[in-house]
Amino acid sequence: DIEKGADIDYVDVSAGVHHSFIHTPMEFEGGWERGYARQIREVSNKPVLAVGRITTPDLAESLLEAGDADAICLARQLFTDPYWAKKAEEGHADDIRTCVAANFCWKSVSRGARIQCVYNPTIGREGAWGEGTLIKTKTPKKVLVIGGGPAGLEYARVAAARGHTVTVVEGKSELGGHVRLQSLLPSRKEFGEIARWLSDQATKNGAELRTDLPVSETGLGTLLAAEQPDHVVVATGS
Ligand SMILES: Cc1cc2nc3c(=O)[nH]c(=O)nc-3n(C[C@H](O)[C@H](O)[C@H](O)COP(=O)(O)O)c2cc1C
Ligand code: SF4
Repeated sequence: DIEKGADIDYVDVSAGVHHSFIHTPMEFEGGWERGYARQIREVSNKPVLAVGRITTPDLAESLLEAGDADAICLARQLFTDPYWAKKAEEGHADDIRTCVAANFCWKSVSRGARIQCVYNPTIGREGAWGEGTLIKTKTPKKVLVIGGGPAGLEYARVAAARGHTVTVVEGKSELGGHVRLQSLLPSRKEFGEIARWLSDQATKNGAELRTDLPVSETGLGTLLAAEQPDHVVVATGS
């Protein structure tokens, strides 16, 4: 009846209220609102759009194939990776920086600040750091990064992409620092995706990531003598 009386092009099905669930937290599974979209699609003559924690092309396809929706909407996923559709189309789904639903973006906006993402520092700063701004260096340096947490890995990812020779040494047997620890908490597994993406991208860009190499005060001299870096980045947490 609503559709008869109004000029409606499509129906976008989104559940939740302003301060909860609408920007679904990470403990909800991807595409959790698909059932709502499906029920509306069964009674609507309009195209029905589904939204909510849809982060991978496979999940998006599965919703469409199941007939839950006519089209998919991405909200936070496009803060995390504005090139989602391009990467999906070109078969580079592994390179997509997936939204982990940490809601740092929401926290920032709801405080009246600019849009931010917990692991895409370029969002809202596209003019300075976005597509096309990364310049290859004319003077490649050898860089040693101490600490394989988010900061060390992000540094390695960008510096290696710019053509520097980067080695990361991490004391633990796994990379990720505090996001790896957070991922071990109940309902916080998604944080592990940050470590996975940063490590994969740093490696793809040519950085060497070494684990099980704690750097102690006494061992530092030996490490520097062996590596002979031009720069040392200490990224051991604040
Ligand atoms: C910063 C931010 C602002 C939002 N503003 C609105 C809004 O004004 N109205 C609305 O219906 N949904 C709003 N949403 C919810 C999104 O449109 C979307 O439904 C929700 O984030 C779930 O999709 P996603 O998992 O792809 O992010 C907002 C979400 C975020 C993160
Ligand atoms: S801060 Fe980034 S990763 Fe977290 S919910 Fe927002 S867009 Fe997703």
